[in-house]
Amino acid sequence: MPSHLFIKKSIAQLQNEAAGVGEAYTLKRTLGALNLVLLGIGAIIGAGLFSLTGIAAAHHAGPAVTLSYVLAGVGCAFAALCYAEFASMIPIAGSAYTYAYATMGELIAWIIGWDLVLEYAVGAATVAVSWSRYFSKLLESFGIKLPAVLMMSPFEHQNLADGSIVSGVINLPAVLIIVLISLLLMRGTRESALANAIIVALKVGVVITFIVLGWQYIDPGNYVPYVPPNTGVFGQFGWSGVLTGAAIVFFAFIGFDAVSTAAQEARNPQKDMPIGIIGSLAICTVLYVLFAHVMTGLENYKNFAGEAAPVARAIAKTPYLWLQQAIIIAILAGFTSVILVMLLGQSRVFYSISKDGLLPKIFSDIHPRFRTPWKSNALFAVFVGSLAGFLPITVVGEMTSIGTLFAFILVSLGVLILRYTQPEAPRAFRTPGVPVVPILGVVTCAVMMYSLPWDTWLRLVVWMAIGLLIYFTYGVKRSILRKTAIAQG
Ligand code: ALA
Repeated sequence: MPSHLFIKKSIAQLQNEAAGVGEAYTLKRTLGALNLVLLGIGAIIGAGLFSLTGIAAAHHAGPAVTLSYVLAGVGCAFAALCYAEFASMIPIAGSAYTYAYATMGELIAWIIGWDLVLEYAVGAATVAVSWSRYFSKLLESFGIKLPAVLMMSPFEHQNLADGSIVSGVINLPAVLIIVLISLLLMRGTRESALANAIIVALKVGVVITFIVLGWQYIDPGNYVPYVPPNTGVFGQFGWSGVLTGAAIVFFAFIGFDAVSTAAQEARNPQKDMPIGIIGSLAICTVLYVLFAHVMTGLENYKNFAGEAAPVARAIAKTPYLWLQQAIIIAILAGFTSVILVMLLGQSRVFYSISKDGLLPKIFSDIHPRFRTPWKSNALFAVFVGSLAGFLPITVVGEMTSIGTLFAFILVSLGVLILRYTQPEAPRAFRTPGVPVVPILGVVTCAVMMYSLPWDTWLRLVVWMAIGLLIYFTYGVKRSILRKTAIAQG
């Protein structure tokens, strides 16, 4: 392959970019360490905790789903430590894309940037569809029923009480939440961070309330046996079940990496990026393990099988039935902040790619007053809104996982490469235990990727093929780094 495809950016050049050298309008630095931790928690706690805990316990791990959470959390910690090193060293909004540009060259950087669309844009669309489902549930509890045609994509159908079948036209609530959040993101990062902080306080409050109130009603009998014996099939209980459970609940941890896309909006990224990334992951891991412990202590894991609302079933074992409503509100809040941070991350990654010339300039136009990439936010509102409104995207949750795992692997590899190629470069935060930690990061993420179904792999390959087509017909000719290199002979 021609060497220009692997042209790399220097660390010095990236640090100049981070400082905004030669820019008319830059992103505004408004975020402190606490904002960053809250952004991380905003992106992390969402659909995963409330829906996957029951599934992983019922079919794979039993009460030992707590151990699945510990395992997945430790796996993510390896990647998080690598992200922390990069985000403090190269505080650029492109995150994994930029890290790959500095270590593995332009083509790999483009591949990872394109891959991140799966995590952020597709992830936001998936969560918006779940949001819409819970929103209609909440409205129904107040006696309000929205017409079915406005709640589903054209590919979905519903059987009505009179026996007729109705097809959807558009999932309107999913579109609306995407548009509303995009407007907020256009308005300003500080405003978005404030909204995120309020939502996070609400959802974490409900999670802690569930843990504290539920704790007294735990029936210790539900923990026996803690690791149910394997059925003879790999992944169905026993230790292999704990492992498979970890791959399933991995989705619940996705999001801490999105903190790194706010690097150009952090006041003190060198110090605060590692705090935001590692802090949010650590807090969520503790909450997840406690939540799973209480949930499987209240209700026997077997009874979560086929249960659409497993948390509600656990709550039914306590006298606090109002918690059921509170959980729906926490879920809606959780989904809202996940969408917010994912859409923020998506526009920031494309901002960086566009600044490098690999995507049209419209993605990096900064609003003179709001100092946000508002046109990019608007375009993604249309793209993600269309995905959420018109496609039955229940299957794409796994796309988010595979896309994220792929990014984690490349970031872990990147840390290793840079330690050998540029050992002297200043690092405000150093990943401990190199090379063991990045290697473990690669291995654990590869194992989890391997455990995903083959059709998810197929979709990943198709998505990447589209990305490569765009790169070779558009980006490769317009790459600013390449043009500069040619101009300089
Ligand atoms: N971690 C996020 C969630 O569970 C993606 O919804």
